[in-house]
Amino acid sequence: MARTSSFAPLEQGELKVVPTHVAIIMDGNGRWARARGVPRVAGHRAGARNLRRVLRDVIELGIKVLTVYAFSTENWRRPEREVRALLSLFGRMIDNELDELKRNGVRIRHVGRTERLSPQLVKKIRYAEQVTQENDRLILNVAFNYGGRAELVDAVRRIVAEGLAPEQIDEQTIAEHLYTAGMPDPDLIIRTGGEMRLSNFLLWQGAYAEFYVTPTFWPDFDREELLKALLDYQNRQRRFGGLPSQQG
Ligand code: FPP
Repeated sequence: MARTSSFAPLEQGELKVVPTHVAIIMDGNGRWARARGVPRVAGHRAGARNLRRVLRDVIELGIKVLTVYAFSTENWRRPEREVRALLSLFGRMIDNELDELKRNGVRIRHVGRTERLSPQLVKKIRYAEQVTQENDRLILNVAFNYGGRAELVDAVRRIVAEGLAPEQIDEQTIAEHLYTAGMPDPDLIIRTGGEMRLSNFLLWQGAYAEFYVTPTFWPDFDREELLKALLDYQNRQRRFGGLPSQQG
């Protein structure tokens, strides 16, 4: 992950507002593979390679938090072979990328449940989190075995276990019990592969996020595509439920 500047000056000049937290639903690996007549698993491998490239751009642009949806609680329903491939890809990504991510100031965080993951994979995840915990250039949240509803269930369970009274619970209490506690909400959620849905991703945190969908399949989502999404974002007027500022 070299730090050489690869953005054309014009592109950088156009980009004046960089969101703090970008979240990505990396969809379309399967269709990318089908279009090439290769197995779905090859699509996921290409997706993993692309994540590596996108990470480089995200760091360079100064985005502070990136959350990627790598494996949902619903993905267990896929054929066993594909599930196994995705589990092992995650482990291999940690093995292959950890040193470089560490060197580049990336803090790795897992968001999701650890149940059903092998003890070896959980150990790798915990190790990656531990050795990068002092990094602050970019927080990389890997949503793996993640579901927005499961996350809310887990938060409620913990709140109840802590014995909080109903009147002690407000929105901040919920936010502080999510996997993403202490992190800013996503400003922009990007979905590749063209589907117009959230698919159980960051249900609470995404309440006011801007949503950007591109038909491009994840393995083809390159620097130009990322810049297009960011330029689109900077032209949005975020109101958080209020009125446009000029209407005072
Ligand atoms: C959705 O495409 C993608 C996934 C379920 C997996 C995403 C995983 C990666 C990009 C690579 C691995 C990264 C880590 C951190 C393990 P799809 O299979 O639903 O595509 P389709 O809609 O075209 O079938």
